[in-house]
Amino acid sequence: MSLASGPGPGWLLFSFGMGLVSGSKCPNNCQCQAQEVICTGIQLAEYPPDVPLNTRRLYLNDNRITFLPAMNLGLLSDLVYLDCRNNLIREVMDYTFIGVFRLIYLDLSSNNLTLISPYSFSMLSNLVQLNISNNPHLFSLNKYTFANTSSLRYLDLRNTGLQTLDNAAFQNLLTLQTLYLSENPWKCNCSFLDFTIYLIVSHLNHPDEQNATCVEPAELAGWPITQVGNPLRYMCITHLDRQDYIFLLLIGFCIFSAGTVAAWLTGMCAVLYQNARRKASEDEAEDEHGQRGDDSGRIFQNRADSGQDGFPQLI
Ligand SMILES: *[C@@H]1O[C@H](CO)[C@@H](O)[C@H](O)[C@H]1NC(C)=O
Ligand SMILES: *[C@@H]1O[C@H](CO)[C@@H](O)[C@H](O)[C@H]1NC(C)=O
Ligand SMILES: *[C@@H]1O[C@H](CO)[C@@H](O)[C@H](O)[C@H]1NC(C)=O
Ligand SMILES: *[C@@H]1O[C@H](CO)[C@@H](O)[C@H](O)[C@H]1NC(C)=O
Ligand SMILES: *[C@@H]1O[C@H](CO)[C@@H](O)[C@H](O)[C@H]1NC(C)=O
Repeated sequence: MSLASGPGPGWLLFSFGMGLVSGSKCPNNCQCQAQEVICTGIQLAEYPPDVPLNTRRLYLNDNRITFLPAMNLGLLSDLVYLDCRNNLIREVMDYTFIGVFRLIYLDLSSNNLTLISPYSFSMLSNLVQLNISNNPHLFSLNKYTFANTSSLRYLDLRNTGLQTLDNAAFQNLLTLQTLYLSENPWKCNCSFLDFTIYLIVSHLNHPDEQNATCVEPAELAGWPITQVGNPLRYMCITHLDRQDYIFLLLIGFCIFSAGTVAAWLTGMCAVLYQNARRKASEDEAEDEHGQRGDDSGRIFQNRADSGQDGFPQLI
């Protein structure tokens, strides 16, 4: 009883595991030697079965693979080198590389990537070199894409259709040395300013910098994006658009009108005050009429002078 139930399932699992690991098996048409599996250019349409589990280097380049199955890939926990260059991979999902956390080198260049989901590389904290060049339909990268790839030293983003990048995406890449950015239609608008400033202050190597140029706007077309930081800052911080001029004009007009109204009100108050005072002194004069005949003449004269235009005489 105890003999039958004890070792049963455990033994099964064990032998299953051994079968997968020890399998001197090698995928059809691939070459396997010393933890290295080479399946280069053999017309594979999908990820090959039977990749030995202790594989450290896997070459799948120059095939027609359209997607990477996370389940199979995740079994290769010793994998440090994965070359998927020149296939037809369309998407990389959050879980695709979740099991291959020892990866140091990952080449996804010359595929047809349209989406790299934000946490795709979040387990790849040992990754040193990442190549996603020549994926012309990629168009955008999330700002969390590189949040955990803190060992990255070489990053190739050539010919990816990217128009803009968020500098927040690069803030955890403290060891980054070399960054390729050419052949992308960079849109150098004010949202791009922070990234261009980052390029200036970070002192990275840009071997292709002369070819990494702005496409838009027209006045910055052809500028290398590693040098566009200052003109862009000038444009975005001190440059005024037509709306800004209209706004300033409106403000100016408001201040002018408010000033005019205030001056008019002050004038009105002054006139009313003067009138009131004159009236008071007239009354006083009338009271003293009998005693001071000479003075009343002067008062009437003053009244005639100042009463002509209704405004008090200032001097
Ligand atoms: C690559 O992806 C684009 C956009 O999804 C698609 O139009 C195109 O046909 C794909 N190319 C290949 C060779 O699969
Ligand atoms: C980075 O890794 C840590 C620990 O593995 C995880 O908790 C966190 O969610 C990751 N962050 C991102 C943005 O992937
Ligand atoms: C990235 O891949 C492209 C195309 O496969 C290749 O030309 C380029 O040299 C690679 N970049 C790096 C930094 O190795
Ligand atoms: C700049 O261009 C990018 C990419 O097209 C766009 O997402 C962003 O909204 C633009 N920013 C401004 C301020 O126009
Ligand atoms: C820049 O592009 C031109 C033409 O496409 C090419 O001949 C040259 O080698 C490129 N330079 C660099 C540094 O990538």
